[in-house]
Amino acid sequence: MSLIKLESLTKIYDIGGNKFSALNGVDFELQCGELIAVVGMSGSGKSTLMNIIGFLDRATTGSYFFSGYNVSHLPEEKLAELRNTKIGFVFQSFFLLPRANVVQNVMLPLFYRGVPLLQAKEIAMQMLERVGMRYLANHRPNQLSGGQQQRVAIARALVGNPEVILADEPTGALDSKTGDEVMELFTDLNRNEKRTIIIITHDKEISHRCQRTVTIKDGKLYP
Ligand SMILES: Nc1ncnc2c1ncn2[C@@H]1O[C@H](COP(=O)(O)OP(=O)(O)OP(=O)(O)O)[C@@H](O)[C@H]1O
Ligand SMILES: [Mg+2]
Repeated sequence: MSLIKLESLTKIYDIGGNKFSALNGVDFELQCGELIAVVGMSGSGKSTLMNIIGFLDRATTGSYFFSGYNVSHLPEEKLAELRNTKIGFVFQSFFLLPRANVVQNVMLPLFYRGVPLLQAKEIAMQMLERVGMRYLANHRPNQLSGGQQQRVAIARALVGNPEVILADEPTGALDSKTGDEVMELFTDLNRNEKRTIIIITHDKEISHRCQRTVTIKDGKLYP
């Protein structure tokens, strides 16, 4: 069974009465343990697709199956629950909380799930160890380089043990060497821990390091 299956998915944005079709019938299947790149030019619909896959938004028409369940018409609370438990997000601009230190940032998803603080801290420290950032646990995000911040964001994405990591242009704000190191971490997490990872990028270098690449163009997906 596929972890993710999309059938004839469309997304139509309504901008002041004008309709804009950002996804035009997307079919897609993803198995557990895959590392896949979604590539496409700016405006092609990558983030729109990622937001739907990550339960941040809904499709206009079509079906979305997650672990075999049709999640297309779930109420908002259920979507939020799936978002919080099944998906780990990594974004181009890290989105770390500036006033919290590194370990507090990583603990956050566990905090929302009601995990006791001491236990949450222990798990967060393990994740920081995993991404090589444990030694910076008490630093603030603004004391870290971009690559270090992205590693912390990846630790935060991993901490709740999600079924899939969704990374939207995770290397977009990094220089190429740092971006390479972050990609190395993703490939390592996939290879050695069988993490399922979707990386959205418009960088061909990044996609070449994934097992599979799909291309999105004008809201349509091509294998
Ligand atoms: N909330 C919205 N309301 C209206 N139109 C939107 C909205 N979000 C995206 N769009 C439009 O949908 C299209 C796809 O946008 P999307 O953000 O998915 O592109 P993208 O492939 O992620 O681009 P980029 O590489 O620049 O991040 C664009 O034409 C965009 O203007
Ligand atoms: Mg985008």
